[in-house]
This record gives sequence, C-alpha cells and structure tokens, in this order.
Amino acid sequence: MSSDSDGPTPPGTAPAAPSDASATGEAASVASLPLAPYPPHLGHPKLHVLKQMRDPLAFAEEVFATRDVARFHLSGMGDFYGVAHPDYFKRVLLTERDRFQKTDDFQIAFGEGLLTVEGEEWQQQRNVLQPLFTRDSVLGYGEGMVEQVRRRSERWQDGQRFDLQAELTDMTLDVLFATVLGRELELDGDESIRQAAEHLHDWFLPTSYFLPNWMPSPARRRFDAAKSTLQSEAQRLLDEAAGDAPTDPSEATDLLSLLVGLREAGVTDSGMLSDERLRDQMVTIIFAGHDTTTTSLTFAFWALANHPEVRETFHAEVDALDGPPTMSDLDDLPYTDTLLTETLRLFPPVYTLPRKTAEDVAFGGFRVPESERLMLPIRVVQRDPRFFDDPTTFQPERWTKAFRQELHDFAYAPFGGGPRICIGRQFALLEAKLALATIGREYDLYWLGENDPSGEPPVAPQMTTRMEPGQQFLVTER
Ligand code: HEM
Repeated sequence: MSSDSDGPTPPGTAPAAPSDASATGEAASVASLPLAPYPPHLGHPKLHVLKQMRDPLAFAEEVFATRDVARFHLSGMGDFYGVAHPDYFKRVLLTERDRFQKTDDFQIAFGEGLLTVEGEEWQQQRNVLQPLFTRDSVLGYGEGMVEQVRRRSERWQDGQRFDLQAELTDMTLDVLFATVLGRELELDGDESIRQAAEHLHDWFLPTSYFLPNWMPSPARRRFDAAKSTLQSEAQRLLDEAAGDAPTDPSEATDLLSLLVGLREAGVTDSGMLSDERLRDQMVTIIFAGHDTTTTSLTFAFWALANHPEVRETFHAEVDALDGPPTMSDLDDLPYTDTLLTETLRLFPPVYTLPRKTAEDVAFGGFRVPESERLMLPIRVVQRDPRFFDDPTTFQPERWTKAFRQELHDFAYAPFGGGPRICIGRQFALLEAKLALATIGREYDLYWLGENDPSGEPPVAPQMTTRMEPGQQFLVTER
C-alpha cells in the first residue's frame, strides 16, 4: 500500500520495474536514451485524442496495455508521458520527488491553495493545516458527520427513486461545511453554494480541456462564476470569524477558526494568511473535499447493489451494532472498512495524477524530457493483474492482513503517496465509513441503471471518475 499513515507495507513479490541509471543518481546517460514511445497499437498519434475523448478510462488502459512507460499525443495540447508501475509511482511521489512538479492548470484554476503550491510555501501551508486533519482531530468531527448524514437520509421515503450521486453530493457538502468550515448548510437551500461547488469541476470538462488555459469557453465562464461565489462566501465566513477565533491554534475546532486565529496571533509573516490566500485555501478544500467522497460512496452503494453476497455480509455487520452507528462502533465495522478499500481500488475517484518533469528523467530505459507532462495512472495500476488477482472483480475479502503485507509498495494509491499524500484521507475514510453504516442500517439501495457489457457502472470521468449523472437508485426501508 502507499506510504501513508495507515502503515507502510514492504514491497511484495510482484515484478519490480527495471531500474534506471537516474534512479541511482547516475543521470549523465539520460540524455542519450530514446524518448518513451507511442504504443504502435494506438494508431497514428493524431487519432489518440479521439480515443481519449470517447473514453478516457479505456484509453488509459490501452496506452499501458503492453508497456509501463509510454507516450501519447492529444492534438491541441501536445505530448503526454505516462508511467504505470508502482516502483515509478514511488520514485515520482517519494524518493525522487524534487525532479517533478505539479502541473500549471490546477494553479490557474485554484490559485495558491494547498493542492497547487510548491516548495517552502507548500511546506508552510501543510504544517499549518495538518493538525486539523490528524486521525485524532478527525475523530472529533465524527458526531457532526453522523448528524449531517442522518439529517438528510432520514427524509428518504420507502419506494423513492432518486439520483443517488446528486443526493450524496449534497450530503458530503453538508458534512464538509458543518465540520471543517463550521457552518451548517440549509437542507433545501444554499443553492448558490451547492451549484458553485458543482461548477468548480467545469474547469476540467472535456469540452474545455483541450483549449489553451487563457481561452474562455462557456464551461470556464461557469467555473469563474462558481469560484467567485465561493470566494465571496469564504470572505463572509472569514469576516464573521474575525474576533471570535482562538489565538491558541490547538484550541481551533475548524479550518476557519484555525486560519483566522493564526492570523490574529501574527503567527506567520508570510502572505499565506492574507484574505486572498485564505479564500484560495477554502475554495481548494471545497473542491478537493467533497466530490471525491461522493464518488467513493456512490460506487460503494453501486457495489452493494450489484453484489448480493457483499451486501449480505455488510448488512450482517451493521445490523449487529446496538443501535445507529456512533463513534464507539468504529472498531466493530471491519468489513465496512474493506468494502471501502476495495471500492477505492476498483474505482479510485482520482484516476490519474498529473505531474511535470523538472529535468530529463529515465524510466525503464526511456527518457521523459524536462518540462513534459507525466501521468501516473492510479486506476490502471490498481487493476493490474501483476499486483491484484482477478483485478476487475469486486472482492472486499481480498484485503486480508497477509495480502496487505505482501502488496507491492505504491500498488494501491487512491490518495496519492509521499509527502503530498491527500491531507483529507482520514477525514474522507471516516465520513464514508459512518455514512455507509448509518445509511446501510436503515435502507437498501437498489441500482436501476444499466451496467455496460463488462459489468462496469456507467462513468463520466472528468477530474474525478464520477458515475454518469442522473443514474437512478431505488430506496427501500429495511
Ligand atoms: C475519498 C476521498 C478522497 C480521495 C480519493 C482523495 C484523493 C487525493 C489525491 C490522489 C491527492 C493527491 C494529489 C496529487 O498528489 O497530485 C489528494 C490531495 C489532496 N486532498 Fe484529497 N482525496 C479525498 C478526500 C479529501 C478530503 C475530504 C479533503 C479535505 C477535506 C481533501 C483535500 C486534499 C488536499 C488539500 C490535497 C492536497 C494535499 C497536498 O498537496 O499537500 N481530500 N487527494
């Protein structure tokens, strides 16, 4: 598993990627290596973009079907490189991370929040925010999470049909605002905030993706409007919090009071606590902190609906609790944990991680030149039969202790890895676990949509691997 705080796992017995001179510090020969190739079976590079637009997930699988290091071409944007082996992930995210940078598009979209900044500035921001996201701090949000999940799910009627993904989007936004941002959203209101949070994804819509970053488009105009709505809301919350926030950061209970308190205490002299930066930070957290959890939950409910034997084991576990799940039940939900682990393996919300090379780098005897875009296709690796038996089958049972210990390091990386691993992963896992258990005790959710011929749910990948919008589920009371 990736090197996160759930415990690093030693490398397993799956094949290692060939080592490169650059990995051992002898970089002199990199310049003479051939460029990573276009896989011939993809056809002419001018056609790659059509395949990518038709189905980005299938295209990624095709690119890496016969090789771990490859190049593809997207007309209008140029060449992209990709490396699909956990050993390469480890080099990019951990051991050689200084040779790679974040890509520019996120920064243009989100300014100077934690997701985008680099170097010293990133370290400072991460140090400031980390205390709010440790396992202990996150446990403090648990009751608030359950309250928000219940508040919304209690309104569901027996026999109701609805777009589950849309409902869960509202729910995860309720949770994020009530816990991290300290403001309870109205159940049937705050539409402008809900819509704005949704439109933050429009920056990455396929229709705009291939345009130069400076070029306006309807989707980008929606993105700009959404960002300014959320920035105004962030400013309003900041103004409200001013004067109220504790000056001792350890007393802060949410992001807002932490940031405002630090500023009032004059804790840092950098510009990172300016109004503008704080607004960027809050918009970043809203973007990164709810859609990914929505996606995980939607696919988990899809998996429960499509795998009766999994549903049965899950129900037996949640039904054995004394009452509606509380924080004291967390240790009694091991199957719910593995259900989530398997969901994040088969349907990682972030299906590929983008980076840019800061210098020429060798992978498997090929060269990826400086300043090129490099993709780390998480979903491809998490479905690679070299690391997971029967990889496209949904099998929570595979996550035994022995399997985790033997799993190749970085073969499972739904939250990324290395120092820039998702800061919100403990938050997301706790929220998803509590939401699954709370809803699963009260309701069955039946999938009314159609899987594709291979048994996969219909997906519409943008920045995250979402299910196609409008997919209906039927709710029945248990
Ligand atoms: C299942 C849910 C989630 C998934 C799958 C997920 C996935 C990821 C991934 C893959 C990264 C690494 C990006 C990279 O290296 O380029 C990341 C970073 C990040 N995530 Fe998450 N995330 C989730 C939930 C959350 C939540 C709930 C929050 C906040 C409340 C959050 C906030 C962030 C932030 C701020 C970063 C940037 C961290 C840094 O660069 O230091 N995420 N996430």
